[in-house]
Amino acid sequence: MNDFKERIAAELIAVRDRSLAYTEADDDLLVRQHSPLMSPLVWDLAHVGNYEELWVLRAAAGITPLRPEIDDIYDAFKTPRKDRPALPFLRPAEARRYIEGVRGRVLDVLDAIDLEGPTPLHRDGFVFGLVIQHEHQHDETMLATLQLSRLPGLVRDGDLPAGRAGGPEEVYVPAGPFLMGTDTVPWAYDNERPATWVDVPGYWIDRLPVGNGAYQAFMADGGYDDPRWWTPEGWQWRQRTGVTAPLFWTRDGDSWWRLRFGRTEPVPPDEPVQHVSWYEADAYARWAGKRLPTEAEWEKACGWDPEARRARRYPWGEASPGPSLANLGHRAARPAPLGAYPAGASAYGAEQMVGDVWEWTGSWFQGYPGFRSFPYKEYSEVFFGEEYRVLRGGSWAADPAAARTTFRNWDYPIRRQIFTGFRCARSEPA
Ligand code: AVJ
Ligand code: FE
Repeated sequence: MNDFKERIAAELIAVRDRSLAYTEADDDLLVRQHSPLMSPLVWDLAHVGNYEELWVLRAAAGITPLRPEIDDIYDAFKTPRKDRPALPFLRPAEARRYIEGVRGRVLDVLDAIDLEGPTPLHRDGFVFGLVIQHEHQHDETMLATLQLSRLPGLVRDGDLPAGRAGGPEEVYVPAGPFLMGTDTVPWAYDNERPATWVDVPGYWIDRLPVGNGAYQAFMADGGYDDPRWWTPEGWQWRQRTGVTAPLFWTRDGDSWWRLRFGRTEPVPPDEPVQHVSWYEADAYARWAGKRLPTEAEWEKACGWDPEARRARRYPWGEASPGPSLANLGHRAARPAPLGAYPAGASAYGAEQMVGDVWEWTGSWFQGYPGFRSFPYKEYSEVFFGEEYRVLRGGSWAADPAAARTTFRNWDYPIRRQIFTGFRCARSEPA
């Protein structure tokens, strides 16, 4: 195998090690549904194997289906998450055997395949990038399931750099066109393409994500009880759910505690807030006299290099995200303290844009002008419209393979189990 193929093989092996590490629990925990929002963990495990079979073995290599009778069980569209526990999905030992069988053939295909043709699935190893990113995305989903299960889970408390106090609250991004999305980043998803010139008026954006301490000031100021800060739908959601704090927070007298992978601990004030819905983020921003950034504003502040007039793969440039640049890849099961990554700043001086927490934006998930679905409509296109809000940047649980300045994620505005926070922006005063 050449170097590129060796790199692909290494990434396939790394992501599988990750999935297996998240599914080491006893069988009864793997088959159980911990929340109606999520799948049983062993469903995710066999689903990523089935996806790999569909795209690498069948679509790219033309290999006959290994177990066609299980396709429907693992088709996310035929089986909504709430119905998954009742499915005859493969039990853990069989699921592991199945994905291992698929994987052995996938490595044989990788060895033999011509990565330059004959189809766009082959070119530059796209189909391998697709399954690697897909599995990492499901691994992040499995971490959300483990967190929701409230079981003492997989708390990986690796070291993170210390926070850094001081520095400006906001950075300024002057007006001017920038190239949004990409035509050139290898393995970019269809929804990141094509690249488009976008001109946005000058604006200010928070240098850092909103921290727990700042969020507590909003709470202490009665933010949850003041309809002025909420959109009508947001206020309805607030009334209906009775929510008065981020998910997993509990109050003890004057102090707030949070549950994190089965442990209860004080809420650290200098860490980005996570587990808030879009409605809460939007209300906070209005309380602060600001608003959520549009997706274009977020991406320009994160990835545009105004001097070179080109987009960067990461805020700091092209270098891969080492431990002093960003908190990605589950180094620790938490966001890093605010100010921990000065070397990871963007050209405009915004920090912690990639890693730590996904960030809600003010934009709906829509296709860019000229969008063409590839390789299938159900990855992105069927979600376009005014139902899902865009999330950017990637969390501590996202892998570098599925995080970059152009990467787009999306979810319903009510969702809070994902590792999501936000930062605010405001228009230049007229
Ligand atoms: C992009 C995270 C919203 O999990 O529903 C996984 C990713 N697509 N399998 C999701 C995805 C197909 C998707 N999100
Ligand atoms: Fe999937």
